[in-house]
Amino acid sequence: MTAQTVKKADRNYKIAVIGGDGTGPEVVKEALKVLAAAQKAYGFKLELTEKDFGGERYLKTGKVISDEEVQELRKYDAILLGAVGHPDVKPGILEKGLLLKIRFDLKQYINLRPVKLYPGVWTPLRDKGPEDIDFVVVRENNEGLYVGEGEFIDKGTKDEIALQVSRNTRAGVERCIRYAFEYTRKRNKRKKLTLCAKTNVLTYAHDLWWRVFNEVAKEYPDVTTDYAHVDATCMWMVKNPEWFDVIVTDNMFGDIITDLGAMIQGGMGIAAGGNLNPEGVSMFEPIGGSAPKYTGKNVINPLAAICAGAMMLEQIGETQAAAAIEKAVMDVTQNKLKSLAAGKMGYGTTEVGDLVVERVSGAVAVAR
Ligand code: IPM
Ligand code: MN
Repeated sequence: MTAQTVKKADRNYKIAVIGGDGTGPEVVKEALKVLAAAQKAYGFKLELTEKDFGGERYLKTGKVISDEEVQELRKYDAILLGAVGHPDVKPGILEKGLLLKIRFDLKQYINLRPVKLYPGVWTPLRDKGPEDIDFVVVRENNEGLYVGEGEFIDKGTKDEIALQVSRNTRAGVERCIRYAFEYTRKRNKRKKLTLCAKTNVLTYAHDLWWRVFNEVAKEYPDVTTDYAHVDATCMWMVKNPEWFDVIVTDNMFGDIITDLGAMIQGGMGIAAGGNLNPEGVSMFEPIGGSAPKYTGKNVINPLAAICAGAMMLEQIGETQAAAAIEKAVMDVTQNKLKSLAAGKMGYGTTEVGDLVVERVSGAVAVAR
């Protein structure tokens, strides 16, 4: 699923676990339950270290995450994250101070977001099924508008100007596009890579993306290339999602289109992603956020976190176990859950975790 496999000879992996805020810890607990079952069934070992980064610690200590703490994360084989965002903490502090800081400092320059409709899952797209909705967004994760460059001029006056810079380096754009081509080739489905940008308006930033895309494309004659403006991409994702195989895009557009992607694949309850440093330490997360209003109620859907766990296994090289978890999740969506929405699943959070565990451990057979 991802580019790098660091499968170790001893199959013993060090994992940092950040439960985080809101429902994060609850869904991570279910993911860990499933990962424990996978370890038993497939004979590898995860050595877990829990980290208390998040809103609660920030409110107590005023500390989000220090440079040293981020650097310490480098010694792990992967990181599993629940969610970031606390109702009592001003928006931006945890998002920037924790999530974006880890993404940036650990050079997790790819945000990989599969958009796959599992069997039995309701999609708002009428007449579209699992065979139509199965693509992956490769989102640039270290640059663009997310670098936080900009300034206010004459702040607070009627002449105020606010500037927000989108930084796109050739090296940053190229490594992302290259990853996307490699990924498209490896995925080996329709072998089609679509660049999603806005070349008709962002005539500097996306001119660079366009030029690099076409240059790198020459090295991948087996990959069909396509281009869609971001607004048109949104339209096609709804009208003809089957046209997409892999989409590569910048940080901001990737953020936006993957929420749309999450909705057509059945919602935030199922959408997972990986923040990848293909040469270093990657971090996996359900993309739905902390959903504070559901905290502690045992109603939140843990499948996105469970799928993030599967993506993590794929990346560390435990591909068989990763595939088994995905199969188990598909069996649960097809045969068990009434809905993927919080409180409407027909099961509680922990029961959904149990359903997946039973299937991964072999206690309940899954159709192959
Ligand atoms: C995401 C989130 C983050 C982002 C926020 C929490 C900063 O929306 O992972 O998509 O914008 O990248
Ligand atoms: Mn987002």
